[in-house]
Amino acid sequence: MPLAALRLGVNIDHVATIRNARGGEHPDPVRAAKQAAESGADGITAHLREDRRHITDTDIDRLMAEIDLPLNLEMAATPEMLDIALRHKPHAVCIVPEKREERTTEGGLDVAAGHNHIAPYVRQLGEAGIRVSLFIEPDPVQIAVAEAMGAAVIELHTGAYCEAALRNDTAETARLFQKIEIGTAEGYARGLEVHAGHGLTYDTVKPVAAIAHIAELNIGHFLIGEAIFRGLREAVTTMRGLMVEARAQR
Ligand code: PXP
Repeated sequence: MPLAALRLGVNIDHVATIRNARGGEHPDPVRAAKQAAESGADGITAHLREDRRHITDTDIDRLMAEIDLPLNLEMAATPEMLDIALRHKPHAVCIVPEKREERTTEGGLDVAAGHNHIAPYVRQLGEAGIRVSLFIEPDPVQIAVAEAMGAAVIELHTGAYCEAALRNDTAETARLFQKIEIGTAEGYARGLEVHAGHGLTYDTVKPVAAIAHIAELNIGHFLIGEAIFRGLREAVTTMRGLMVEARAQR
C-alpha cells in the first residue's frame, strides 16, 4: 500500500512573539505564513492563547483573509475561543490544554478526565464543518476517548520524545518513540487521522516522519529559531526535505 502523503503545518506563533517583544508590526506572522506557503508548507498553524502572548485576534483575521493554505487554529476549550472559531470557521481546530503560567503547551490534553467539558466543543466545532483535532499524549486511553468523542484527528504530543533526544538519553528516546509509533497505529486503526508535533527539530523529525500513518507534522519554535540563521524559506525547505527523505527511506 502506498504511504499517505505527509503534510507539514508551519506554526508561526513565535514570529508574533518576536513582534510583540517590541509592539508594532514587525516581524509580521502573516508574511511568515506566506513565505512558509511558498517554501513547501501544506498548512499554517497558529495558537490563539487566552493571554494573546503571541498570535492576536487581528492575526487570525488576517490569516483567514490573506492565506490560501488551510489554517489549523490551536485553542483551549473555552467559550471565548469557541465563539472565535465558529466565527472564522478555519479548516481545522486543534484543542490544546492551556495554562497561563506555562511557557508552552506542556503536556497533552487529558480528554479522559476532561470528557464532559471537552465533548461539547468537539461536537459544536464538528457540526460547523471544522475538522477537530485533539492534542493528546500517545496513550491508548486518551486515543480511545478521542475516538469516542467524535474527533476526526488526534495530534500526538512529541515533546517528551524530543526532550529525551536532546538529553541524549537513548533508552528513554527509544521508549517514548515507540509510544508514538504504537499510538499512531492505534489511532489509525480506530479511523482517526493522526498528526504529531511539539519540539520537533532537524535531529528528531525523521523517525517521526517515517511512521507510516502519520498524516501531518506541526512544527514551529525550531523553524522560527532556525530562520534567524538561514532564513525562513530555507528553514522550511530543509525540514520538508527531511520529511520527504524519511518517507522515501521506509
Ligand atoms: N502542535 C501543537 C498542538 C502545539 O501546541 C504546538 C506548539 O504551539 C506545536 C505543535 C508546535 O510545537 P513547536 O513550536 O515546539 O514546534
